[in-house]
Amino acid sequence: MIDTNVNRRQDNNVKWSVTKDDDQLLPMTVADMDIATPQFIREAMQRVLDQKVLGYTMPSTAFYNAIIHWQKTYHNVSLKRDQLIIVPSVAVGLSFVIRHLTQVDDGIIVMSPYYPPYRQLVIDNQRQFIEFPLVQREGQYVIDLDRLDQVMAESNAKAIIVCNPHNPGGCVWTTSELQRIQDIANAHNVLVLADEIHDDVAFSDNLPVSMMSDLMGEEASDQTILLKSATKAFNLAGIKCAFLAVKNPKLLAILKQAAAAEAIEEVNTLGLVATRVAYEQGADWLAEVNAYLEANRNFAYEYLREEVPMIRPMYPEGTYLMWLDFMAYGLTDAELDQKLRELGHICLNPGIDYGKTGSGFMRLNFAVDRAVLTDALKRLKTFDQAVRKK
Ligand SMILES: Cc1ncc(COP(=O)(O)O)c(C=O)c1O
Repeated sequence: MIDTNVNRRQDNNVKWSVTKDDDQLLPMTVADMDIATPQFIREAMQRVLDQKVLGYTMPSTAFYNAIIHWQKTYHNVSLKRDQLIIVPSVAVGLSFVIRHLTQVDDGIIVMSPYYPPYRQLVIDNQRQFIEFPLVQREGQYVIDLDRLDQVMAESNAKAIIVCNPHNPGGCVWTTSELQRIQDIANAHNVLVLADEIHDDVAFSDNLPVSMMSDLMGEEASDQTILLKSATKAFNLAGIKCAFLAVKNPKLLAILKQAAAAEAIEEVNTLGLVATRVAYEQGADWLAEVNAYLEANRNFAYEYLREEVPMIRPMYPEGTYLMWLDFMAYGLTDAELDQKLRELGHICLNPGIDYGKTGSGFMRLNFAVDRAVLTDALKRLKTFDQAVRKK
């Protein structure tokens, strides 16, 4: 049973902290869910606490087997234990990979709009951030693959981050798009950093294919570093446990050595337990959550198209994030944010934080109780009516 009735107004909660200054404000932001972390995971963590000592713990064989089994069963990715490297989070893992598999001043291609920390991770590691704008076709993003080929040919790019499903656009890239990216990357000797953290939130009309899927072939696996965790789908962002999968023996050796040098695999005991249990026992719970999220997605998408047509939503093929185009209002990014808060009493993630292509957009997180989503959509309608009256 999923539980969508949670109170998250605790101290230090990132999403709800905005209500400190204005308790009428409804935040629909940060990519975690207002759905209780499943009870079987909380109970497993409680059993660890009941042992009374939080001492040093090693990742168990069961932990590795749970990841391997999950990735094979649901993503057709065949992995062996020694191809996995544990890291505290996907962001930490990305930084680690960038530092050890590329050099200072190398270019890293990032499709724009992008998950905002990508930029920081690239720039603060003294690599060049190559922003590659996605293009819109019939209101959805597509990748201009000929242009990507050109950018790889003309730049000093050594890696590309491929986020699938895509945050913030909600796109699930097609197998042919993924294969073409791999072909182009291979031709230019560019490493593919596949961020698949969102790929367990999947809807009936679109199942994401992993860059490391057996379907993609050996060559693709050989030039891919897969980054993932159980945290998005099972609402565990605070547990700090993620993993890298690396099949290329040369890259694996470099990263294993670096992992030892940095002691990066020393993750949280509770994170190991939560991840294992999520993958061992979580399939039914997740199916229920995904069905709930899919109904939320359909409801929000239809509501906006019918009731607030000036806000143009992209159709999220994956993720619990909806990317909304507010350009018809002719407001600046700062005005838009301010008016949503003042007139609609709603807080969304400003698109401009996701790169230049995000200007005029806002991101809405629909992983909430249906009643809260309904409230949020009504607030958007209130904003729309108020702003058009002025
Ligand atoms: C695409 C993407 N990658 C990485 C992360 C961060 O993951 P972690 O908390 O494991 O660093 C997020 C979180 O929202 C995300 O959306």
